[in-house]
Amino acid sequence: MSVATKTPEEIQKMRVAGKLASEVLDYIAPFVKPGVSTGELDRLCHDYMVNVQGTIPAPLNYAPPGYAPYPKSICTSVNHQVCHGVPGEKALKKGDIVNLDITVIKDGYHGDTSRMFVVGGDASILAKRLCQVTLECLWIGISQVKPGARLGDIGHAIQKHAEGNGFSVVREFCGHGIGSKFHEDPQVLHYGKPNTGITLTPGMTFTIEPMINAGKAAISELPDGWTIVTKDRSLSAQWEHTILVTETGVEVLTVSEGCPPPPAVAQGMVQAGAA
Ligand code: MF3
Ligand code: CO
Ligand code: CO
Repeated sequence: MSVATKTPEEIQKMRVAGKLASEVLDYIAPFVKPGVSTGELDRLCHDYMVNVQGTIPAPLNYAPPGYAPYPKSICTSVNHQVCHGVPGEKALKKGDIVNLDITVIKDGYHGDTSRMFVVGGDASILAKRLCQVTLECLWIGISQVKPGARLGDIGHAIQKHAEGNGFSVVREFCGHGIGSKFHEDPQVLHYGKPNTGITLTPGMTFTIEPMINAGKAAISELPDGWTIVTKDRSLSAQWEHTILVTETGVEVLTVSEGCPPPPAVAQGMVQAGAA
């Protein structure tokens, strides 16, 4: 597999797009409250992207082979929804956990990031622990990134942390190369064996976006053709960053004031250049 590396000019555009994507999450955070619908969150984000940022919401009408065009501007995955949840008019309630996944295009380049939100500020102990462990999985994955490391190192570290906490890793969806295209090579699996897969080199840009289930790993697709749910209807969480492989380690591109810092478990593990 050939994985393109980005030029310094492309990397600068990716920094801009990444920051803008993260800033959409900063903007929407205060609106994620009991009573709001995911459709309303979608409309607010759409208007902010288009009218305030001058960005293009990449999901809107996105149609990979075999899929109908995605109908909304963001993905909203609630509770047992794993990913690609389609916003609708049902209200969120206290104790729900919801992933908001934002991808913007600015100047031809993509920034892709997602966070978990706990609606009403509190949820079950299990739901909160799942969100936290999944954030740790993301950052433990990020901490593996440096030139010479291999993709399997990332997947293995994430899998070990998720399963060590009694959770499971979704297999059917993965992180991805990103740049002028939304989804490029390589595929970044969130499970695997150390010392396997392609070797990372400076200038590669890709996402890490583990989907971690409280129950079994199996998933199914809803009749809308997009929304993915856990087969056993257990809770699922996901966090996502877009990253750059640097000469010395890793730079997280999807950073802004409101994005949570690396959790303690990954602090000190992350190589130079990270946020
Ligand atoms: N943002 C998702 C990802 O992280 C992809 C969403 S595709 C969509 O790769 F069409 F559902 F928006
Ligand atoms: Co992504
Ligand atoms: Co995404």
